[in-house]
Parts: sequence; structure tokens; C-alpha cells
Amino acid sequence: MNPTMLVAILMIPFFFLLLARRKVISQKEALLPSPPRLPFIGNLHQLGSIPHRSLYKLSKQHGPLMLLHLGSVRTLVVSSPKIVEEVIRNNDLVFATRPMSKLLDAMSNNKNDIAFAQYGESWRQMKKLARTHLLSSQKVKSMSFDRAEEVSLLLENIANETSRGNGVICLTEILNSYVTNVITRLVLGSWVTREKKALLSKLSHESSTLFYEVFFEDFFPNLKWLDVLRGSDRKLENYKKNWDTLFEEIIKNHGHESKEVNGKNNTYFMGTLLDLQHDSTLGVVLTNDQIRGLTMNMIIAGIDTTSTTLDWCMAELIRNPEVMKKVHDELRKVARGEDMISEELLGQLSYLKIFIKEVIRLHPPAPLLLPRESLQECQIQGYNIPKKTRLVINAWAFGRDESYWEAPEQFKPERFFDYTVDYKGKDFYFIPFGVCRRICPGMDFSMAIIEIALANLLHRFDWSLPSGITIEDMDMDEGGEVISFRKQKLELVPTASKVN
Ligand code: HEM
Repeated sequence: MNPTMLVAILMIPFFFLLLARRKVISQKEALLPSPPRLPFIGNLHQLGSIPHRSLYKLSKQHGPLMLLHLGSVRTLVVSSPKIVEEVIRNNDLVFATRPMSKLLDAMSNNKNDIAFAQYGESWRQMKKLARTHLLSSQKVKSMSFDRAEEVSLLLENIANETSRGNGVICLTEILNSYVTNVITRLVLGSWVTREKKALLSKLSHESSTLFYEVFFEDFFPNLKWLDVLRGSDRKLENYKKNWDTLFEEIIKNHGHESKEVNGKNNTYFMGTLLDLQHDSTLGVVLTNDQIRGLTMNMIIAGIDTTSTTLDWCMAELIRNPEVMKKVHDELRKVARGEDMISEELLGQLSYLKIFIKEVIRLHPPAPLLLPRESLQECQIQGYNIPKKTRLVINAWAFGRDESYWEAPEQFKPERFFDYTVDYKGKDFYFIPFGVCRRICPGMDFSMAIIEIALANLLHRFDWSLPSGITIEDMDMDEGGEVISFRKQKLELVPTASKVN
């Protein structure tokens, strides 16, 4: 027998050993914890009506890193800050993109936006542009005049509504229209009519509800005809048509308003974007489609998240009278008889600020953040994660993690005096605005809207529940899926504050 043949024969057992080892490894990969699934739909039926709660429960049984199969979509669910930290530290770039889907295409104006666009040069430029020209703290500050005017209208609206009926007002609706008014004004200008504002608010809300509409095309590509049969396609077409009509009008009204405020040129987002289209120093050419995509983002991402936060804030204040008293005491000290709290005074309201943090710890408005997808194969916790795996981060679960928060179910703003933790994406156990490359760029913008409204609502009025209703009757359950609003509308009785 020639020596080559001998070596080949001797190698055979090694070859089989190697094969066996590979099999063990791939079996280990397949052992990524995963709840049992049904044929065809996989784990879709386990999402329930409040997915962050269902996923939290599943994570208690299957661990903080689980693999779900949503139809044919492999979805990794992370419920532990430690694992998110590992993902961000080792694979931030791998998970910097968003999945593609029929709905996200519609919401992103065919990926001409920031929130739902694929990771890449165009996304990078748009995000940089938004951070520098639209949502920077300087730009946010420059719009304080508009916010102050809208807060005055909000207070007037509450006084009028109270005098009309039995004194009970639906604060949830009033807060939603305040946020719609401010955001449409800051984004589009003050020409937007009441009807258009109502339509924009409806579209923003529809975006959140459509988010969990199952489009068969996304989960079972062979069954896309079912989308036509079930009417989902028609719903989406109407949604797109409404945006088309609105944008025709927006462009017709050019939304290009400039205002001199305190000697500063205060231009709304639409105006800024149209100006930037002619700015040769920008380094990129901003298309009309991108302007539309960016504007849609500000409205879709801004209205429901911000108004939901305000609503939870007021609900928690009513449920926690001792916290309400502390907020009031601080306000009275700072206001010193002023009729309205101005933005310059907000810096002195440290208790109000930690109170808001505590609200978004327990009620993050976007509990599952926004989905991401792996751009290439990677490893998490020793498991091989293939390319195109969807990543869902349960930030709602992080706020309840006992290894990070003492008595997490208790409402206790003071914890933030001790923890000095912030929501800017550095503390992985408190990420209501997301993390890293895909973090929300609208934090300062929304906080400015929330803080000035809350300060004045509490400065000008004392708030109580309608007669016969007690704190125990308040239902603190969430409704909604992608945006976690309070299921029960907040009805309260405001009384003009005696301090003034
Ligand atoms: C309380 C209010 C808000 C909350 C809780 C919130 C939360 C979030 C979250 C969780 C994400 C996804 C982050 C991730 O994937 O890691 C996000 C993304 C985004 N948000 Fe916000 N948001 C709020 C307000 C706003 C406002 C007012 C705007 C704009 C006016 C805005 C614009 C955006 C945009 C453009 C993105 C996409 C970022 C990207 O994909 O790179 N958000 N937001």
C-alpha cells in the first residue's frame, strides 16, 4: 500500500470525529432557548395583545435570551440589560439596521427616513442632519416661544372645558391635542388647520396600531394574497394615500414660515429642511422624498410617545399624592408668584425631572424599542446568530429588573437621586429611548414639551379624581402594542390653584 493511501485510511476516524464534533456544536446552536412553537405560525400566537408583557412572562420561563419564530421570521428577544450591553459592545454595527417590511416601507416613505431606513450612508447623513439642524439642544431652545404659546392655549382650553360641564375633563384627549399642536407647529409651521392636525394625530396613532397588523407578505411570503383578502393591503393603501394628500397640501403651503423671536430667526423644521435643500455647504443633496420621510418620522415618532408620557405622568401623580405634594412644593418655591412657569425656571425643578424619569422607568412609551436586524452572522452569549435575525429588546422588562432596581414595582422618584442614572443610552438598564447608533434623537425635543406642560399644569391647577372615584378605581394597565398608552382614559377635575 502506498504511503498516501495509508495516511488517508488513518485519517478516516479523525474525519468522522470532526464531523461528530461539528454536529454537537450545531446542536448547541439549535439549543438557543426557545418556547415550543406551532407549525407554520411559530410563536406568533404567544405575543398576545400586550407583547412586552407576554415576552416578559416567556423570558421568565426560557431565559433572558430567547429565540422566537414569528411565522418565518427568526426573532431574538433580549430581556436582560447585561445581554444588551454585550450586543452593543460587540455587535453594535451588526445590529444597526432595521428589518424590511411592507409596513416599514410605507412608514419610511420607501426608506427615505431615519427611523425605519436600512443602515448605510443615506441613513447616516439624515441622522446627522436631524441631530445638527432639527433636534439639537440649541434648536430645541430656540423654539421655546412656540411651546410657551401652546402651553398658554392648553391652560385656557382646560379652564374653558372645566367651566362647561360638571367640571370633569378628559385630560388624555386634551394632552394629546396639546402635543399634536406643538409638534405639528414646530415641524410644519403654524398654518396647519385644526382638521389637518386631527388627521396628523390620527395618522400618528394609526402608525402605532398598524405596527402589529400581521402582513402575511412579511411573515409568510408565499401567502401575500391573504393580505388582499383580509383587507390589510387596503388599510395600508389608505394610510399611504392620506399621507400623500397631506403632503401635497404641506408643500402647497410650503410650510416655510420664518419668525423673528427675540431677534433670532426661528424657522420650523419644514422651513429649515427646504432651506437646506439649497445649501451648497451641506455636502449632500436633500431630496423632496427625504424631506417627506424626515417630517413623517417627527410626527409618527413624536406625537404618541410624548403625549403618552404626559398622560402616565398625570396618572402617577394622582395615584401618589405624596409625590404630587413634593412636585407642588418645589414648583411653589421656584415660581414665586409668577403667573406661568417659564423654560428658564425648569432647570431649578430637579424633583420634577426625577419624577419624569421614574414614570418612564415604569412606563416606557416604546416598551420594545424599535426592531433591529442582523446584517451578518455574529455570536451572542456563545450562540451563533445567523444573518437577518430580528432583534427585539424588552426595555420594559429592564425597568422591573430587581438586580438593578430596589423594589422595582414601587413608584419612588427619589431612587434617581441615589442612582444618578440617565436615559441617554449609557446605562443599559434604563433605555426608554434606545441605545447606540439607533438611539432616539428626539429626547431633548420631547422632554422640553413634557416638562413645560407638566410644570404649568401643576402650577395653575390642583387636580383630583371625579367624585365617587378613588385611586383604587384607577386601572394602570396598558393598552396598545408598539406605544404603551394607558388603557383607561384619564378623567380629572382641575381647580384653579390658590397660589395665584
Ligand atoms: C417620550 C418621547 C419619546 C420616546 C420614549 C422615544 C423613544 C424612541 C425609541 C425607543 C426609539 C428606537 C431606539 C432604538 O432602536 O434603539 C426611537 C427612535 C427614534 N425617535 Fe424617538 N422617542 C420619543 C420622542 C421622539 C420625538 C419627539 C422625535 C422627533 C421629533 C423622535 C424621533 C425619533 C427618530 C427619528 C428615531 C429613529 C432613530 C434611528 O433609527 O436612528 N422621537 N425613539
